[in-house]
Amino acid sequence: MENSELIEKPWTGRFTESTDAFVEAFTASVTFDQRMAEYDIKGSIAHVTMLAEVGVVSIDERDQIISGLDNIGREIAEGKFNWSIALEDLHMNIESRLVQNIGSVGKKLHTGRSRNDQVATDIRLWLRDEIGNILVELERLQDGLLSLAEREADTIMPGFTHLQTAQPVTFGHHIMAWYEMLVRDHSRLIDCSHRMNVMPLGAAALAGTTYPIDRDMTAQLLGFESAAENSLDAVSDRDFSIEFSSAAALIMMHLSRFSEELVLWTSDPFSFIELPDSFCTGSSIMPQKKNPDVPELVRGKTGRVYGHLIGLLTLMKGQPLAYNKDNQEDKEPLFDTVDTLKGSLKVYADMMPTVVVNRDNTRAAAAKGFSTATDLADYVVRAGVPFRDSHEIVGKAVRYGIEQGKDLAEMSLSELQQFSDLIEEDVFEVLTLEGSVAARNHRGGTAPQQVRAAIARARTNQSAIKKSGDIV
Ligand code: ARG
Repeated sequence: MENSELIEKPWTGRFTESTDAFVEAFTASVTFDQRMAEYDIKGSIAHVTMLAEVGVVSIDERDQIISGLDNIGREIAEGKFNWSIALEDLHMNIESRLVQNIGSVGKKLHTGRSRNDQVATDIRLWLRDEIGNILVELERLQDGLLSLAEREADTIMPGFTHLQTAQPVTFGHHIMAWYEMLVRDHSRLIDCSHRMNVMPLGAAALAGTTYPIDRDMTAQLLGFESAAENSLDAVSDRDFSIEFSSAAALIMMHLSRFSEELVLWTSDPFSFIELPDSFCTGSSIMPQKKNPDVPELVRGKTGRVYGHLIGLLTLMKGQPLAYNKDNQEDKEPLFDTVDTLKGSLKVYADMMPTVVVNRDNTRAAAAKGFSTATDLADYVVRAGVPFRDSHEIVGKAVRYGIEQGKDLAEMSLSELQQFSDLIEEDVFEVLTLEGSVAARNHRGGTAPQQVRAAIARARTNQSAIKKSGDIV
């Protein structure tokens, strides 16, 4: 039986006509906000616990309400709850069911509360847990990157600027660049979760309530760091969702850039890496194709997360204080942002250990394109020539190499000496790829030794963060 057949909308007192059927469906949010049911019930239990402590409801009433809410929670978890559009949203569905089950004592639950502070609380509780879930996947991806970087600490690949071969780097160093981006992403999520972890309950509709409530008690019961200072602000702003969405958009931006590299690296002309069949798909027409769908999709999904961020910013920009129905539009973009981000991080974390690097190909690519030209310029500088002049000398050597079809390391000493008589036999040490990367041996440099040191520091920091438990 539908709840709506038994229970009226709780606000019909001043109405003489019933709601237009289309308007009812148009204004309802229950089809999507039911996702926060577990948190709505938790919030209600904390609220009624506090109401009993301050004497607004009796202990017996509290116990009946809590056991009624627990039963509803079970019904929902088992998929047996009949959600009704006529009851508009998740809050009224649960409250109606409570009254239906335990009688009019259930009507006392909403004392000193409004759906406005209720929904603002539910979203925070829900998002707080989801940020925790997202951090689990993010940390798994970080661990995967550290292992890959460690495995490929000595692997030579071309480093690019403008996507033109620039200087040789180690594959591990390149991967650690992605790791560093995720470190900042991680801290942004932690940071925004603290700002979000403030409780709206007690703000009621907008101005607070006349009951002698104890907001600190409710906040503590729900694990909030404090109760919101201002009731108008507490019910109306959704900046916490926007802040989270902007952190999410940045993570997706990073994953999208990374995806772009994986797509390039798996392509035939590059052939730097291989992804396993389980992370790729084929073509229905071209039998040879193995497409990197996972990175492509993650790159594509970035667009919708950006879209949600702009959607939420726009949702808020015209709203006067305090609550407006516009705010009901905050949930679907936020839910989709969480799902998209969590899924993208999960698939990346699963994929990372499967990446196989074609070391011969990455090395061969680095050997092309005069990637040690800067090393030769530095060598000439060390012989006493100003850098600008040595740049000119090496530029001429490169032009000669292009004409002759030879890389710098393939030229004979006398060929190199045409450009500067300061060049000696020991020049070949700096022209090798291994010599070039090993020479950049300082914190933040690409030398294998430095990559290993960076990985060790990252692992120490990771475990310090985990130990500190700085996750709300
Ligand atoms: N479904 C509403 C929302 O998502 C809950 C709050 C409704 N408040 C109100 N006064 N109509 O925002």
